[in-house]
This record gives sequence, C-alpha cells and structure tokens, in this order.
Amino acid sequence: MDHKHTLGFQAPHFMGNIDTMRASSNQKSQRILVLNAKGGCGKTTVATNLACQFANEGHSTALIDYDPQCSSTQWLEMRPNHLPTIHSISSHARKTHITSAFHLKVPTGTTRIVVDTPARLESITAIKLIREADTVLIPVIASAIDTRAATQFIESVLKSPEVRNSNKRIAVVGNRVRKNTKSYKALSAFLEALDVPFLTSLRDTQNYVRAAEEGIGIQELKLKSAQQDIEHWHSLVRWIENPPSQIRS
Ligand SMILES: Nc1ncnc2c1ncn2[C@@H]1O[C@H](COP(=O)(O)OP(=O)(O)OP(=O)(O)O)[C@@H](O)[C@H]1O
Ligand SMILES: [Mg+2]
Repeated sequence: MDHKHTLGFQAPHFMGNIDTMRASSNQKSQRILVLNAKGGCGKTTVATNLACQFANEGHSTALIDYDPQCSSTQWLEMRPNHLPTIHSISSHARKTHITSAFHLKVPTGTTRIVVDTPARLESITAIKLIREADTVLIPVIASAIDTRAATQFIESVLKSPEVRNSNKRIAVVGNRVRKNTKSYKALSAFLEALDVPFLTSLRDTQNYVRAAEEGIGIQELKLKSAQQDIEHWHSLVRWIENPPSQIRS
C-alpha cells in the first residue's frame, strides 16, 4: 500500500521515534495525537493548550514533541515553575542524542499524553502514531485553502486501515474560525457527511499568541477576555474523557 499517497502527507523530512508512545502503552494513559498535514493550522496551539487543560485538572501530563522545529518543547522551556507541571519529551532531541533517556521516559503514573506533530511528517510514522493513539485531533482553519486540504486529509485518515473498523476517536478542532463564511459551512457539511465530530471552534484571538509567548495556556492567562475561550477547552476535554462510540466500518 502506498501510505504516502493514502494519507496525503508531504515529503518525509523527519522520522519521528515511534517507540515513545508504545513505551507507555502498559500504563493506563490516554494518548491524544494532534495531527494535520497542513502547516500553521494550530497543531502546537491545540497540543499545548490541551496539555495545560489536563495538567490544570490534576492529570499527570506529558507533552511529546515530534516536530524538529521543537515549538512545544520551547514553549515548555518557558513555562513558569509555579504552574502545574507538564512533562516534556522531545523526540527530536533524542534523535540528535542531546538528552536521550531523560526526554524519552514517560514518568510512571502519567495519565495523559499529548503528541504534537510536524506538518511534514513522514507518512509511515504518522500511521504508526495514529495506530497507537486513543484519540486523533485534527486542527483545521476554516479558510478555503485549509478546508480543501483538510477534507482530503481527513478522508484519507478515515480510509486508513488503522482507523477503519477501530474504535479510535477522530475529531476536528476548528481554529481561527469565522462561522458565517462559506468555507466554514462547507467544512461543517463535509464533516457531517463523514460523521466526524466538529468538536469546537477556537476563536482567532491574540490571547493564544500571548499565551504561546509566555509558556502558558490560555486558561492560565487570568484575563477576562480569555474567559470565553476557556470553555472550549473544558468541552474538548469532556469529549475526550467521555466520547461517544465511533466504530467505523
Ligand atoms: N486561534 C488562534 N488565534 C490567534 N492566533 C493563533 C490561533 N491559533 C494559532 N495561532 C497562531 O498561529 C501560528 C501558527 O499556529 P501553530 O504554531 O499552533 O500551528 P502549527 O500547526 O503547529 O504550525 P506548524 O505546522 O508550523 O507546526 C502561531 O503563531 C499561533 O500562535
Ligand atoms: Mg507546530
């Protein structure tokens, strides 16, 4: 099977380490993969804010960074010490032998593992990551170009054997959404036809940019203007914790 074609990924730039999630598979941890072949759609924003939400709800949380750009890792390096701990695992750092064992070890008792991925992820690695994840979140910007790319990507993910006939949970997280646009409506209709939940629509707000610059989540900004955004993360976590069954055939 031509996975490269099937999943619609671009040229392989980075071979991530596929052992990382498997290493923790004997623990009772939820594994959430944030994935989209498209660059700049909000993968790191979703991964970091979701990890924050879990950590603030008292979960022992690890954030695995599969991206050689190391955006999630850099974000965690900025994270203030007094905030709930998120364990950092940089797959790329391991590959370059910077801090191998420490970075790869998921601490015993980790209950939530969030994985951030690069846009140009080698498809075979993506397939293995999908196979090992409990939940796959696909951030999509509801612009005409991103919607077109996302619909192809989502269709190919759903057709992959790793997802068909499995009870793996897949959902789209709308990002920087303007609900009255044609592309938003087209994306919603497409997802409805495929029976893929459109979980939430994150606002386009500088609060995300600011939180990213400070190594915190939008929940930790303590700004009145961020209050309406926080509910998105509550509902996202509620869906992950209590998902409806989605067995595909
Ligand atoms: N809802 C939002 N509102 C405002 N800015 C946002 C929002 N989501 C993401 N951004 C900003 O858009 C940029 C791209 O987002 P992000 O880094 O999360 O995308 P990505 O998919 O991880 O990109 P890459 O493919 O390069 O890894 C960042 O500067 C981020 O702060
Ligand atoms: Mg990123």
